[in-house]
Amino acid sequence: MSESQGNNQFEILKGKIERGEAKMAIVGLGYVGLPLAVVFAAAGYDVTGLEIDAAKAAAVNRGESYIPDIAAETVAEYVKRGNLRASTDFGLLREIDLVTICVPTPLRNTGDPDLSYIISAADQIAPYLRPGMAITFESSTYPGTTRELILPKILNGRALTVGEDFFLIFSPERIDPGRTNYTTKTTPKIIGGMTANCGEIARIWYERAIDKIVPVSSPEVAEMAKLHENTFRMVNIAYVNELAQICAKLDLDVWEVIDAADTKPFGFMKFTPGPGLGGHCIPVDPHYLSWKMKSMHYNTRFIELASEINTNMPRYTVGLVQDALNTVRKSLNGAKILVMGVAYKADVDDMRESPALDVIHLLTAKGAEVDYYDPYVPAFELDSRTYRSLPRPERALQSADCVVILTNHKVFDRTALLRDAVLIVDTRNFLGEAGRDNPKVVRL
Ligand SMILES: NC(=O)c1ccc[n+]([C@@H]2O[C@H](COP(=O)([O-])OP(=O)(O)OC[C@H]3O[C@@H](n4cnc5c(N)ncnc54)[C@H](O)[C@@H]3O)[C@@H](O)[C@H]2O)c1
Repeated sequence: MSESQGNNQFEILKGKIERGEAKMAIVGLGYVGLPLAVVFAAAGYDVTGLEIDAAKAAAVNRGESYIPDIAAETVAEYVKRGNLRASTDFGLLREIDLVTICVPTPLRNTGDPDLSYIISAADQIAPYLRPGMAITFESSTYPGTTRELILPKILNGRALTVGEDFFLIFSPERIDPGRTNYTTKTTPKIIGGMTANCGEIARIWYERAIDKIVPVSSPEVAEMAKLHENTFRMVNIAYVNELAQICAKLDLDVWEVIDAADTKPFGFMKFTPGPGLGGHCIPVDPHYLSWKMKSMHYNTRFIELASEINTNMPRYTVGLVQDALNTVRKSLNGAKILVMGVAYKADVDDMRESPALDVIHLLTAKGAEVDYYDPYVPAFELDSRTYRSLPRPERALQSADCVVILTNHKVFDRTALLRDAVLIVDTRNFLGEAGRDNPKVVRL
């Protein structure tokens, strides 16, 4: 296709977006895709969610939400208005101008990236690629994915030119489930176009829905910026987890040390220790970078070291439980343990990579009888067993040999914990000052 025709596609698509006529599809309606769908629908876009999970698509069409940060009423409102719907039929892409890919990027059991979701999403889009289409890719991944993997997959041998006939952009998602002070709409959005035209299309498209757009010079910069953000967190969390172990050896209260350091008004950022990393991002994304660098014969030392320290935290936590029981002449073998909170962080229902899984696995392997209470997580599977949350924690609080606080959900009752439990291991400093110098509380 000639340059002038190509530029024409740019002008045509730009005009469609500016007139509010461009139709949008979001591939993958999970923690990232559903909030995005709602934000773009709120901005007036006609949004179709494409999901392989028929139950999720059906829920959206019934006006329901399965993501805690998104109210069902919000989904229902846009579905009723007619500018939000979901389907499992990728044939709907025939009518779509703007496609956003939000599929998972997990790790395989071996610790290597599992690119199968990206590949299948690109394969599903490829038959419908046509001049005048723009595609943004939002999944967290290694630098080079958009150019080396997505582009050839969606082209599938066709002679279309990116930046002229169609537009391809990487725009990392930064949503933080459970956070209320920054949302999908108010968190600045990085966009890295394959060409200047690609970046410009994405800017015009996203600017209508998201408050601040941050254009960068390439998809690789955008991909790397996302990994930098998450690796920064992973390394700092590892450092503070090691600091907790250092302070324990020096008989210092790590929480007091951190709070004191946090009074410095510049050059310091507060991170807190815990029972291990969790979620879909921090424990996973840096490994996309280390995998990529291994292929270039470079060893990412900070990532390896941080991963080693963080991965050991569940074991360290179990050691604290064992030592705490020891002080009351009990062994872990046969002890009744009540775990408070299994979600990977406070006030969310997300169990992905939750350190609670490792902690409970290790406790059980040592012969402990484990119950848990988490109002956000009614049940989960571990070691071929279904664990179900106690409907209420009161009785177990009194009967447990040790209560282990793994997640600092706001709804937990501090007073009841301190009054009723005989022994508490608090890995989140949930009990704060009340747990300090308290003979029945062991703090991480
Ligand atoms: N969850 C977060 O907090 C967060 C934050 C920032 C970035 N991210 C990144 O965003 C991406 C998506 O994460 P998520 O948390 O939304 O995952 P998720 O598992 O919640 O959602 C992904 C959805 O994609 C669907 N899906 C999978 N393959 C598909 C396909 N071929 N076609 C259509 N749908 C498909 C799944 O059924 C699922 O509903 C990941 O790369 C993740 O690292 C996540």
